[in-house]
Amino acid sequence: MITAIITGASSGLGREFALAIKKRCPDVESFWLIARRADRLNALAEELGKDNCYVLPIDIVSEEGIKEFIDSLKDIVPEIKYLINNAGFGKLDDFKNIPSKASYDQINLNCGALTVITREALPYMIKGGEIINVSSIASFAPNPRMAVYSSTKAFVTSFSRALREELKADGINVLAVCPGPMDTEFLPIANIAKGTSKMFDTLPRSKPKRVAKKALKYSARKKAVYTPKLFFKFYRFIAKILPVSLVVKFAKT
Ligand SMILES: NC(=O)c1ccc[n+]([C@@H]2O[C@H](COP(=O)([O-])OP(=O)(O)OC[C@H]3O[C@@H](n4cnc5c(N)ncnc54)[C@H](OP(=O)(O)O)[C@@H]3O)[C@@H](O)[C@H]2O)c1
Repeated sequence: MITAIITGASSGLGREFALAIKKRCPDVESFWLIARRADRLNALAEELGKDNCYVLPIDIVSEEGIKEFIDSLKDIVPEIKYLINNAGFGKLDDFKNIPSKASYDQINLNCGALTVITREALPYMIKGGEIINVSSIASFAPNPRMAVYSSTKAFVTSFSRALREELKADGINVLAVCPGPMDTEFLPIANIAKGTSKMFDTLPRSKPKRVAKKALKYSARKKAVYTPKLFFKFYRFIAKILPVSLVVKFAKT
């Protein structure tokens, strides 16, 4: 069965990706919905049509979670058209104030789990398949006060670009999606409330529904990177041409 696998499908952008694929990709016959909160995934499965959904309530950072994912691949043998590596989180504060476990978990989820899931899913991907890795504008330059998060997203964008070249021969595209702030659960989890960061208070917001829809369009066109909003496209350009020692000064969150 032609399948779309979405990590972090229980909320925010991941949920919007599932709904956008349902609306725009009629060839998809089956959805794998992955996140820890089963109730949210089951509610989404109802919306998408329960019979077409495989709900996998796992922690993709844990060994057991990854084992369950690998066992499911072996049992079901999906024909994967879309792999949406979307699960991720960040923390805003000076590095010294963030508990080391929170930093370690960001690296394990945003980089480690994304890498392992991609590697394990790859043998099941069909020609013409699309991998969409959710990165961030934080990947364009190091962000003081989000030092670990921005480093994990730099990994995601770099990994996506390298893998894209490798997989061209297999007819599989890899797109890195680099949104700016979106009003999702990401912000409270990152401890970003009004007043905690001047930068976050002033930056324009993107709508997750629109980001998902346009990301699918960029992916279908076999693009490498999608940055929503002109403002952030300009930032990406500036971050590329100016010395990093300068950009890092105004990239402080
Ligand atoms: N919102 C923003 O401002 C923003 C900006 C740029 C990039 N991004 C990126 O966009 C992506 C989606 O974030 P979002 O904004 O939609 O935030 P969100 O609503 O908090 O979504 C994060 C998703 O990841 C899942 N998740 C977290 N830890 C997990 C784990 N250990 N195992 C499995 N699933 C896990 C969460 O589900 P459970 O809690 O149910 O596990 C949730 O579905 C992330 O990669 C984020 O870095 C967000």
